[in-house]
Amino acid sequence: MREKWKSSFGFVMASAGAAIGLGNLWRFPYLVGNDGGGAFLILYLIFIVLIGFSVTIAEAGLGRYAASNIVGSFRKIHPGLAFAGGLGILSAYLLFSYYSVIGGWIIKYAVTYLTGRSLENPEAYFADFTSQVFQPIFFQVIFILLTGFIVYKGIAKGIEKYSKILLPVLFVLLIVTAVRGITLPNAMEGIRFFLEPDFSKLTAKTFVDAMGQVFFSLSLGLGAVITYGSYLDKKENIIKASVLVPTIDTIMAVICGFAILPPLFSFGLGASQGPSLMFVSLPLVFSKMFMGNLFGMIFFLLVFFAAVTSSISMLEIITAYFTETFHVSRKKATLILCTGVILLGIPCSLSFGVLSDFHLFGLTVFDLFDKLISNILLPVGAILLCIAVGHIWGVKNAVREVTNQGTLSFRLWRIWGFLIRYIVPAVIFVVFLAGMGILRV
Ligand code: PFF
Repeated sequence: MREKWKSSFGFVMASAGAAIGLGNLWRFPYLVGNDGGGAFLILYLIFIVLIGFSVTIAEAGLGRYAASNIVGSFRKIHPGLAFAGGLGILSAYLLFSYYSVIGGWIIKYAVTYLTGRSLENPEAYFADFTSQVFQPIFFQVIFILLTGFIVYKGIAKGIEKYSKILLPVLFVLLIVTAVRGITLPNAMEGIRFFLEPDFSKLTAKTFVDAMGQVFFSLSLGLGAVITYGSYLDKKENIIKASVLVPTIDTIMAVICGFAILPPLFSFGLGASQGPSLMFVSLPLVFSKMFMGNLFGMIFFLLVFFAAVTSSISMLEIITAYFTETFHVSRKKATLILCTGVILLGIPCSLSFGVLSDFHLFGLTVFDLFDKLISNILLPVGAILLCIAVGHIWGVKNAVREVTNQGTLSFRLWRIWGFLIRYIVPAVIFVVFLAGMGILRV
């Protein structure tokens, strides 16, 4: 018997946990601020409504219909589509390998603040830590094993149980951080950077950024929602859950902006991009702020919860496939898969140290995986999903599934069908070409 979520609340918490992650905490605030503030936010919200909701419904519906891992789900629609599932497995594996590097850093920082140490020179501290060989790998392995432990425990007793605890705690910690953020002197400057609309900044790049962020943040395009949807009971309301999860993710992303940007501006730092935002600039703020150590600890704990609830969804994508295809136990599967992720994760970690000069296609291993996922694998995966659901399985069949055989109302089903069949794949395709530099707009 395949496992199921115990409740729809559990499914929503697990899915929101998968969605809320580093994408919200370190990518979203920076992107909004630099890509036009409120103007970018409006664009992002349009993409959430047009693409986010509809692709989430399609993925969750397909998963529940097939009640199988992602390869099995695509295969159930058409045997020739199994490769689309395979692509998702590959994406999840690559993604977990480099996401876990950051996961390890987060544990290291959380431990540092928990043990009461304050970082006087965060820049040197970060450079020294990440360029080492053993320490970052050690913490990365801890992160992978913690993720593996939750996934090994299973759907209801592992993923659902831990998401139901970690997500509410994360929410409270985030609110504490955001309230502290906006009550600091000069907080307004950060809020202005975050939200003041600048429509002149809306260029082709902003469209690419906004769409990429929608996919990454909602964990779409690689089968996370298909996998989680496959554990849904036939009685649950998929449409409601598929609107709720992206909504929660978006609200949390905006709160992250309030938690992160005002403190940076309050201390005259501004928003830097990438790792240094979280691991250099914010620790610098904590070192100067009243009770900074406490806020540093709260912050890295919350980031850790966000990262781990996301990484379990990546591992579950592969674990579901592995257990159902090779008929191995969950325990064996997670053990083997975690070992595989550690092996691939090590060169990602070393990209910041001894392998920093090793480049493939002009990128370090870490950056290569990141670009490969965000710019190629996720959009291609999403287009394949739209074709599979909209054109091969068919809108009528999909609607029958998500309305529980017509017993739930879905008044916008025609619009949804039109979006999934034509608009979403077309938009993704154009933005994908622009992102690859093939199309100049
Ligand atoms: N949504 C996660 C984040 O915002 O950090 C990242 C992610 C998790 C992407 C799981 C894809 C996935 F399957």
